[in-house]
Amino acid sequence: MNNDIGIYVHIPFCLKKCYYCDFVSYQDKDELIDKYIYALCNEILQNAEILSQYNVTSIYIGGGTPSYIDAKYIKQILDTIYLLINKDELIEVTIELNPNSITEEKLKIYKDSGINRLSIGLQSNHNNVLKKIGRAHTIEDFEKALDLANNLEFENISVDLIYPLPDLNLNDFKNTVDYVVSLKNRNVKHISIYNLEIHENTKLDFLLKEGYLSLVNEDIEYEMYKYLNYTLPKNGYYRYEISNYAIPGFESVHNLKYWNQDRYLGFGVNASSFFGGTRYKNETNIEKYIDDVLSDKSTIIEKEEMDLLDLMKEYIILALRKIEGINVDDFKMKYKKNIYNIFLDEINELIQEGLLEKNKNNIKLTERGLEVANVVWERFI
Ligand SMILES: C[S@@+](CC[C@H](N)C(=O)[O-])C[C@H]1O[C@@H](n2cnc3c(N)ncnc32)[C@H](O)[C@@H]1O
Ligand code: SF4
Repeated sequence: MNNDIGIYVHIPFCLKKCYYCDFVSYQDKDELIDKYIYALCNEILQNAEILSQYNVTSIYIGGGTPSYIDAKYIKQILDTIYLLINKDELIEVTIELNPNSITEEKLKIYKDSGINRLSIGLQSNHNNVLKKIGRAHTIEDFEKALDLANNLEFENISVDLIYPLPDLNLNDFKNTVDYVVSLKNRNVKHISIYNLEIHENTKLDFLLKEGYLSLVNEDIEYEMYKYLNYTLPKNGYYRYEISNYAIPGFESVHNLKYWNQDRYLGFGVNASSFFGGTRYKNETNIEKYIDDVLSDKSTIIEKEEMDLLDLMKEYIILALRKIEGINVDDFKMKYKKNIYNIFLDEINELIQEGLLEKNKNNIKLTERGLEVANVVWERFI
């Protein structure tokens, strides 16, 4: 096993809560920002010994909206991490941005702090749709943000979309897809397009239940799926994970760690880690998180030590999210076992059902399997 590790940092502040969002993020706790960053840097320093033993190859600053807070805090976090690691090993340093909070000054500080990948939440290019889902930005904000990033020569930009957004018609969706692929010559090298998840107790859930908004019907959603998976590859963005497309060479180094079941440490409220075969989760209440760190208490509220069988099953589910699927040799190297000796029945059944296929050294989802991936995961739970 290699000696690489990734770092995730959670920034739980946003200008305004989007109607669909279930992330741990607050629109009304700005007075905690300074204290939170101080606690976060302390948590990172408390892990100095572990970090010194590995090669940190990726850092991902996510949220919430990291671009919402003053850029001096982002610099402070990265400078703290840099004290503890060998910076030469770093391949990718990503920050998530909301188009309405990007300024030239912030981007300059990001660049000087070693950030080399921007992930911008666009969601839709239609202002009326953005408004319906409670986004605080417009397409004009996005255009301006992208120009600023290009002027400062950020060469690895990712854009997030969600589909199908409520009441969206097929033509508008096609227009959104055409719009994002037109950004190829403006350094958009990666596109994440997430299937809308409706979480209980969100404003979106309420608006749908009360009939203020309605979901797109399944036939139209399937047409959208087909258009997306035809248009993106045709324009050079190949699908490498269920929801992720990239120009070759611009796949996310950090996110691939999740799908390869590689180790990473998460810092901040609600952050999770995978380390030594164990999954950890941090405190989800921000006030308690700050108090715990500052009084030297552990911030971990969940610890799942996984046995070998659980680890192997999880590996399969995660690897099948990638379009290339499971590499049979990698499985053997990681677990010292032949995957076919342990999961032969499940694999054969899924192949017979047309959901999995074997090719050379890989086992992967078929086109049909990609459409109903949940059915496949269930066989390995
Ligand atoms: C932490 S946010 C990205 C940065 C920033 N907070 C923003 O929204 O612009 C991560 C991404 O998750 C996706 N996302 C959030 N909630 C979702 C939901 N309910 N269903 C599908 N995708 C969702 C959005 O595409 C969003 O850009
Ligand atoms: S800006 Fe991003 S993290 Fe914040 S509420 Fe909206 S989707 Fe969630």
